[in-house]
Amino acid sequence: DDAAGEERFLELITSDSRVEPTDWMPEAYRKTLVRQISQHAHSEIIGMQPEGNWITRAPSLKRKAILMAKVQDEAGHGLYLYSAAQTLGTDRDTMFEQLITGAAKYSSIFNYLTPTWADMGSIGWLVDGAAICNQVPLCRASYGPYARAMVRICKEESFHQRQGFEILLALMNGSESQRAMAQESVNRWYAPALMMFGPPDADSPNSRQSMDWKIKRFSNDELRQRFVDMLVPQAEALGVTLPDPDLKWNEERGHYDFGELDWSEFYDVLKGNGQANAVRLNTRRAAHEGGAWVREAARAYADKQAAAAAD
Ligand code: ACO
Repeated sequence: DDAAGEERFLELITSDSRVEPTDWMPEAYRKTLVRQISQHAHSEIIGMQPEGNWITRAPSLKRKAILMAKVQDEAGHGLYLYSAAQTLGTDRDTMFEQLITGAAKYSSIFNYLTPTWADMGSIGWLVDGAAICNQVPLCRASYGPYARAMVRICKEESFHQRQGFEILLALMNGSESQRAMAQESVNRWYAPALMMFGPPDADSPNSRQSMDWKIKRFSNDELRQRFVDMLVPQAEALGVTLPDPDLKWNEERGHYDFGELDWSEFYDVLKGNGQANAVRLNTRRAAHEGGAWVREAARAYADKQAAAAAD
């Protein structure tokens, strides 16, 4: 019954064990997980677009092969995450519907445009770097299927981050105009990447409860700080400047201080007013509609197989 289920649930959470799909769980826990995991899945699927945009224009065959593999990895991440969300009782059609109608959120970062090749470097280094900082602790999330999906995703993200760093490194070792292209791109992506961690803790309505349930292990601001601390030496190695005049080492705190972010820009992007919100959703919707015949054919084939097996 519910009382026994609840007691066992709390015991799983306090003992740092895993909650599995067949375990009793509070409705609000289920709802939070579906929200977070489906938004995460949508982010991976929409996240294919800013880089997919550069596959035909990558500067060499090797770069093209790497970029194509990376975009495919993102499709895979989306699929594992949809599967993890499905174990909570929400079907994939419902989640797709929420994405293409704009009812569901996906990461703010994918509403920025990618006008230069250096943006492929910045996405790998900064966006995937932020994703790793946020996602490594999710490998210890209390919900088993989510935590297990994150293990493989993090391994692949760490490769993605290195390939982005290496693109920027190649540009920084290149001509003056290539160095300028890398710096200009980092200037555009730095602040939006910091905003990926979500609003400041004081304005994060979900954090407290998600941390009590051990879905989130660290707060948005804690992870943002960790990310900035990680970036500074990497920026030095690359020879790029991080575009924040307030960025400086704080001996007392043992961390880098950094400037206030423009949260009005973040909320504006969430409202749908970013550079690429409309393009991203339209492209996704067209792909979904264009793929309808594939889903129909797969369904007809499955029905036929089932009928044959029943004979
Ligand atoms: N982009 C879009 N929406 C965001 C972002 C962001 N960067 N950050 C926060 N939000 C939304 C939240 O989803 C929430 O809205 P909702 O209640 O309608 O769902 C609202 O802003 C308030 O934020 P929080 O209370 O802080 O929300 P939450 O506790 O869910 O924390 C976070 C947000 C940190 C993004 C969390 O959901 C998370 O860790 N998600 C998994 C990681 C993920 O989704 N990564 C996607 C980008 S990385 C990639 O795909 C490469």
